[in-house]
Amino acid sequence: MKVIPIASACTRTLHAAHAVVETGGAAPVAADAWRLVGAVESCFDGKDCLGVTIDSVKVGLFRIDGEIHALDDICTHGNALLSEGFLDGHEIECPLHAGLVDVRTGRGTTSPITRDTRCHEVRIDDGNLYVRLSR
Ligand code: FES
Repeated sequence: MKVIPIASACTRTLHAAHAVVETGGAAPVAADAWRLVGAVESCFDGKDCLGVTIDSVKVGLFRIDGEIHALDDICTHGNALLSEGFLDGHEIECPLHAGLVDVRTGRGTTSPITRDTRCHEVRIDDGNLYVRLSR
């Protein structure tokens, strides 16, 4: 497994809760490589929801009982970021129309969400959070 460190810390961008993880450098990065988001505690900074952009993909990260789940951040129903929603148990409530998504599976559990959300792999190594995008 090849790990590509691409960011040492989260940085804020367009949305208040959205950080950008940039690939940087000229060397090509394998599409299935693990991306370093940063140190878990400093990235979440006491919150349970975090939005990051990895290789131009907006990813929502949700921390529940010490586990972190990653899925596409853009709601499948409209143009809203799930990471700006409200986490209740294992469900994130979309901030725009209140549809619910199970962050463990990406499954939409209530109307108006009719399509599931793509999930991504997460791993924590030595306190650092890594994400591998599903393609
Ligand atoms: S945009 Fe998310 S439920 Fe409508």
